[in-house]
Amino acid sequence: MAMAWFWKKGKAAQPAEQAVGGQAAAGETAEAEGDSAESSVKAAAAPATTASSEPILLVKGVERSFPVGGQQLHVLKGIHMELRERQLVMLKGRSGSGKTTLLNLIGGLDLPTKGEIIFRDRPIHTWSDDRRTQIRRKEIGFIFQSFALMPLLSAWENVELSLRMAGVPRSQWKERVKHCLELVGLGKRMHHRPYEMSGGEQQRVAIAKAIAHRPSLILADEPTAELDSQMGAQVMNVFQDIIQTEQMTICMTTHDPTILEVADHVYEMVDGKFISG
Ligand SMILES: Nc1ncnc2c1ncn2[C@@H]1O[C@H](COP(=O)(O)OP(=O)(O)OP(=O)(O)O)[C@@H](O)[C@H]1O
Ligand SMILES: [Mg+2]
Repeated sequence: MAMAWFWKKGKAAQPAEQAVGGQAAAGETAEAEGDSAESSVKAAAAPATTASSEPILLVKGVERSFPVGGQQLHVLKGIHMELRERQLVMLKGRSGSGKTTLLNLIGGLDLPTKGEIIFRDRPIHTWSDDRRTQIRRKEIGFIFQSFALMPLLSAWENVELSLRMAGVPRSQWKERVKHCLELVGLGKRMHHRPYEMSGGEQQRVAIAKAIAHRPSLILADEPTAELDSQMGAQVMNVFQDIIQTEQMTICMTTHDPTILEVADHVYEMVDGKFISG
């Protein structure tokens, strides 16, 4: 049975359209590659998002240019987008279209050349580096394609690190680390180091690390690109669990048409703009 079937089943129970701008998720029918090991992949529950959930992030007329060889390279050319509570939003687009550049702006890692980024009613594009770093550590979680774990630390210690960085009191660490690692299905791998785990397990540690400090927004740049289809499906199931149980919003980039099917909303970037936006 193809993974796409499980995911579509989850999608079928939710509203077909969300009231946000951009292009609705296309009903691609690409079949999952790989074997039929999906028995370990549970059917995704319908996300709890509704069009009435509160917006947590607004991107208004954002442009980003970079000086290259004495000229300005216009990478983002007027982006408008909205992320709402408990949504799974995906950005798709060709290599070089500007997806990572946009995620960096949303996460306060970079500043727009023009336009506004409003995170939970606060204009973070006007804030200093220090102030943006603070909000990032406390309210945003990042997940990268290549996992970005500390190689010498165990899964447990990697997750603990983000609690330390966020200033969470030490007395809360043990319970929260255990909860997050169990949530991502790694209750039996808590003391393994990254090199003692599979790619999918490492990415799930990275997810536990990203959610540990209870951010409201998770940003994930190609989180399944280095995983095979079964491990990618596990990661997507974990994302859906997180949205439900931790009440978080996830914005991710992907090239994978099968994965796009589980999005509440898909924005398609073409040459620095959203099409049908
Ligand atoms: N700091 C920078 N200086 C100059 N150009 C940059 C900089 N960052 C990104 N760019 C350019 O902006 C464009 C968009 O890059 P970006 O990394 O956002 O693309 P992407 O959509 O994430 O691509 P991929 O799918 O390959 O990850 C590219 O042409 C890139 O060379
Ligand atoms: Mg990128």
